[in-house]
Amino acid sequence: MVDIPVVDLSDAISAKKLIVEACKEFGFFKVINHGISRELVAMLESEAVNFFALPQHEKDRSGPPSPFGYGNTRIGPNGDTGWLEYLLLSAHPKLMFQKPHFSTISEPFWLVMGEYTSAVRQLLMGVLDDICEELGIGTALSRLIGDERSDSCFRVNHYPPCPALNKIGFGEHTDPQIMSVLRSCDAPGFQICLKNGSWASVQSDPNAFYFAVGDTLQVMTNGRFKSVKHRVVTNCIKSRLSMIYFGGPPLTEKIRPICSLMEEGEESMYKKFTWSEYKKSAYKSILGEDRLQRFHKNK
Ligand code: OGA
Ligand code: NI
Repeated sequence: MVDIPVVDLSDAISAKKLIVEACKEFGFFKVINHGISRELVAMLESEAVNFFALPQHEKDRSGPPSPFGYGNTRIGPNGDTGWLEYLLLSAHPKLMFQKPHFSTISEPFWLVMGEYTSAVRQLLMGVLDDICEELGIGTALSRLIGDERSDSCFRVNHYPPCPALNKIGFGEHTDPQIMSVLRSCDAPGFQICLKNGSWASVQSDPNAFYFAVGDTLQVMTNGRFKSVKHRVVTNCIKSRLSMIYFGGPPLTEKIRPICSLMEEGEESMYKKFTWSEYKKSAYKSILGEDRLQRFHKNK
């Protein structure tokens, strides 16, 4: 277990500072007093439980993911596997446009996902504004998430109890987007990789949200923030349900360090690329690969 930074959003002044420090040291932090109602989270959790309890052939009618839809065991198109089943959807504000493709997702589930993703989007935009304010760089980050064309997605992961000990539920990786917002039920398994390379278990807290720096934010801060490597290990007693909002920029957005953040003479550590190019490259890689590697300037 590691004491990850806990950010109390009701204390606005210290929150900003803490968030930026956490992004530099861990690429990860926990948020409390976030303002998202317990009822909303509970409704989503209950709809998700209902969905995963459907007979396999019903769930399979909403899969396999391409890239959106229901997936089981397989993660991505390059042979990665995990001890989980999941639902991956676009988190576009008009989430319902995907409905015709996924007939086994019930109307109430769609509605509550729409409400939840819009609440979490607002929460993320607020946190990104805090970061920008603390760094003195306007609203460069939140506008990417608030944009109609923002390429954000939403994932619900279900890890059944696993009879074998310490199996990997979801292999180590970093999230490619700007920032991810994770919430899970009260079951253990989530781990982050610390700066010294060791793995630390994160205590589950179903009332909190966990924020993870993604590859895109690492580039936009020219390496000041590090995208955090994380993974899920299974447990043999409890099933685990997690829901993750991945805040991504529009596809055509050029990903590069924010000018006003750079010191005089500082050069970008990365080649220029668009979010669409990065996604394509990430899609061709395996889960655990350091996907930013090939965009480093000296490579
Ligand atoms: C992910 C992820 C963690 C979890 O889906 O990218 O890191 O707890 N999930 O399911
Ligand atoms: Ni992840």
